[in-house]
Amino acid sequence: MRILVTGGAGFIGSHVVDRYVADGHHVAIIDNLSTGFEENINPQAVFYKVDITDQQAVAEVFEKERPEIVNHHAAQMDVRRSVADPAFDAVTNIVGSIHLIENAVRTNVSKFIYASTGGAVYGEPRYLPADEDHPINPLSQYGISKHTVEHYLQLYQVNDGLTYTVLRYGNVYGPRQNPHGEAGVNAIFAGLMLAGKQPTIFGDGSKTRDYVYVSDVVEANVLALAKGDNDIFNIATGIQTTDQEVFEAIAAATGFTGRPIYGQERKGEIRHSALDITKARRKLGWEPKVPFAEGSRLTVEAVRAQRGGRKD
Ligand SMILES: NC(=O)c1ccc[n+]([C@@H]2O[C@H](COP(=O)([O-])OP(=O)(O)OC[C@H]3O[C@@H](n4cnc5c(N)ncnc54)[C@H](O)[C@@H]3O)[C@@H](O)[C@H]2O)c1
Repeated sequence: MRILVTGGAGFIGSHVVDRYVADGHHVAIIDNLSTGFEENINPQAVFYKVDITDQQAVAEVFEKERPEIVNHHAAQMDVRRSVADPAFDAVTNIVGSIHLIENAVRTNVSKFIYASTGGAVYGEPRYLPADEDHPINPLSQYGISKHTVEHYLQLYQVNDGLTYTVLRYGNVYGPRQNPHGEAGVNAIFAGLMLAGKQPTIFGDGSKTRDYVYVSDVVEANVLALAKGDNDIFNIATGIQTTDQEVFEAIAAATGFTGRPIYGQERKGEIRHSALDITKARRKLGWEPKVPFAEGSRLTVEAVRAQRGGRKD
């Protein structure tokens, strides 16, 4: 199939591209390299250094590529930046997505896959694990912008017959992950511990998140090519992992023997998160396979290789 992946130079998008290419698809990438990296770009994919907010440039890529599938991962994904600069967040995440959706409709794309966030749309969960019908109460501008696009997709489905699948990720971690992302803590802890430095846990270590390894997220993007039409799926594990457990897993993987510093809890952060993945299991046939200890080990290996044995 002809697939256009936005954000294909970023953490998750580049892994999705690698897999689509390996599966024999023709892949084109749109990325402005704002947080993505040239080294992440699969050499067998066609790369367009284009900003999704540039309506004209996006339209030209659709003309040239005529994709059958759009897989949309490009985003302003830094929660803190969304709070500091909400207009920038909205322009990138909402207006940029509208350009892609409009072009998808105009060129008769058969499926639009959208990377949304289960970590940021539900707010502080009223029950755990939160399923897809949990009330939407974003606590950041990022959560609002990511969720808004889901509404646009539903609307274009009704009005124009666009077929979509929304994947609401938990906290995604693994090689190439960006420290500013929703699961940045794994990469940050790994980097600090490998440098022999003491990481800081904000709060008492009991905050929880639902960590899902990047190869499992990739698998959901493969299954969504053929399944899950016009539906929304949590892609996570359903397991709550505490900050203390993250510290211990990364310490075990790095050989770090020190203790964490416990700092002031940060404002605006939810306390607990876990996503119900029953629907993805049932309708996509998806199952997360990589346990947290194994994923942490693989993440540390990647950070170690990137550091090239530096000791600073
Ligand atoms: N990492 C997580 O835990 C997580 C969780 C839930 C959802 N998501 C979503 O997954 C997607 C990928 O996130 P990631 O963690 O891989 O982040 P990332 O920053 O590594 O990837 C985002 C990519 O989009 C590109 N980009 C940003 N703005 C752009 C623009 N205006 N035009 C073109 N390209 C642009 C960046 O250069 C980068 O390559 C995002 O949509 C994010 O909201 C991530």
